[in-house]
Amino acid sequence: MKKILVIGSLNLDMVAVVDHAPAVGETVLCSNMQLIPGGKGANQAYAAAALGGDTTILGAVGADSYAELLKESLCRSGADISRLITRPDSSTGIAVITVNRDGDNSILVISGANASLMPEDIERNRPLLEACDLVILQMEIPLETVLYSAKLAKELGKLVLLDPAPVPKHFPEELYHYVDLLKPNETELSMLTGMEQIDARLEEAAAWVHGKGCQNLIVTLGEKGLYLDSVQEGACRIPARKVAAVDTTAAGDTFTAALAVKLMEGAGLKEAAEFANLASSIVVTRKGAQSSIPSREEVELLRA
Ligand code: ATP
Ligand code: RIB
Repeated sequence: MKKILVIGSLNLDMVAVVDHAPAVGETVLCSNMQLIPGGKGANQAYAAAALGGDTTILGAVGADSYAELLKESLCRSGADISRLITRPDSSTGIAVITVNRDGDNSILVISGANASLMPEDIERNRPLLEACDLVILQMEIPLETVLYSAKLAKELGKLVLLDPAPVPKHFPEELYHYVDLLKPNETELSMLTGMEQIDARLEEAAAWVHGKGCQNLIVTLGEKGLYLDSVQEGACRIPARKVAAVDTTAAGDTFTAALAVKLMEGAGLKEAAEFANLASSIVVTRKGAQSSIPSREEVELLRA
């Protein structure tokens, strides 16, 4: 089986379900807080493993009980956590999340150990990159580490999938050249391209991305589904499955992971995107990050 390597963040999510997220200067009361394993890297590793991919995660955690919760969760998914680095001097990453009455979230990430994952850690794990077929990256670890990982993976001839979330203030132009498939949501694509009203300008935005050196773009459009635009495979829109969304947390992460799993099984981009669209549609009907990620069987039932 082809191997997926996720290089990225692990956070323990502290989730508050509220009517609305507090505005500046406002205090909002909430009766309960839930602790749920999350972090974009960990969610993607969890989802890739749960969906049947041979998956390893490379990331950093503190020497604390939050790290143990995260490791236990990842182990349940079947992901290989043996390359996780423990930093005794850092705390495990934390995300403070509010989920509002529409199921939309606001997230504050306290990076902790995630901020300590450096290019040297990637270099030390070069054999891991050599042994994998596809590398998934997101942007909750230092930008220099994302850039180093993408460059090395590309040099080694691996497929590089970048989920550019959260978009950094200065996205290095060079990075586009190392990325085979870019998977932003609408807001992220708008930030990257500088284009407003992006939903009416998807073809233009895709041409911009292709011009930067990345040949394949999939933009997730929330309840509107997705737009795919590939230099080799052409362009199409795929509508979302109609569901009642309660919490969108980890929808994007599951989408990314599902794409990777299907591509590693030999699917084309469109088939992979259709599969990812179904997997993510299940996520939004459930609460939390890793707690909402479906098994392969659940997705296959929708395809039957
Ligand atoms: P998040 O950051 O909340 O995890 P995102 O903003 O990265 O998500 P979205 O574009 O909101 O990503 O959603 C990713 C995918 O999840 C969509 O392309 C779609 O397949 C699925 N999805 C999201 N919201 C809905 C919805 N309301 N109904 C059905 N599918 C949805
Ligand atoms: O993409 C969702 C994730 O973003 C959450 O699990 C949270 O940890 C933040 O990193």
